[in-house]
Amino acid sequence: MINVAIDGPAGAGKSTIAKGAAAKLGYIYVDTGALYRTVALSAVRNGVLDDTDKIVEMLGDIKVKLGFDDDGTQCVYLNGEDVSSLIRTPEISMGASKVSAIPQVREFLLDLQRDIAKNNNVIMDGRDIATAVLPNAKPKIFLTATAECRAQRRYKELVEKGENVTYEDVLADVNQRDYQDSHREIAPLKPTDESIMADTTGMILEESVEMIINIIKENI
Ligand code: DC
Repeated sequence: MINVAIDGPAGAGKSTIAKGAAAKLGYIYVDTGALYRTVALSAVRNGVLDDTDKIVEMLGDIKVKLGFDDDGTQCVYLNGEDVSSLIRTPEISMGASKVSAIPQVREFLLDLQRDIAKNNNVIMDGRDIATAVLPNAKPKIFLTATAECRAQRRYKELVEKGENVTYEDVLADVNQRDYQDSHREIAPLKPTDESIMADTTGMILEESVEMIINIIKENI
């Protein structure tokens, strides 16, 4: 199976770019952030987001699953409920960053990610795909862009969805999540020695997708 890992910070365009590349190459695009977001949603619903022990306890009571439509669109289920759109809010973004620092949460989601990669050609996007989930992935791509560029993209996305946010707030969130994601003890966001760095600052989507497809074609 072809397993491509794309890691990188929040808002680097990983999901849109990886989705575009996967569609062109006929691979399944797996957005692993959705899994952490789903655990965060469950924690928020249960009022335990600030209590690590209770989050760990909650893991015993929840089922998280990924599904894929015929056109490759990923859906994520929490105890059978499709929560794919409910997890796309700033509150859940911050919550996901928080729960993702808990080792038991990462362990809880590990097999689910590996099973999909074992049985399918995938482009898997996340923070620790190359370093932890799929250490044999090839190529391993580390996608970046400046924090300002990433905040601008996310701001636009949120405004289009009707969220009431300011660019300054989004930039502060991006910086805070970068810090949390790269400084946590377990599976911090970082490139591996084999990672190919891809910087999308100033690129439009089509250019980024083309760059990623070229990297994949030259390195699988
Ligand atoms: O990619 P995203 O914004 O949907 O990710 C949400 C949070 O989940 C992010 O702050 C870090 C965490 N995450 C992670 O720790 N490991 C992954 N493989 C994917 C996401």
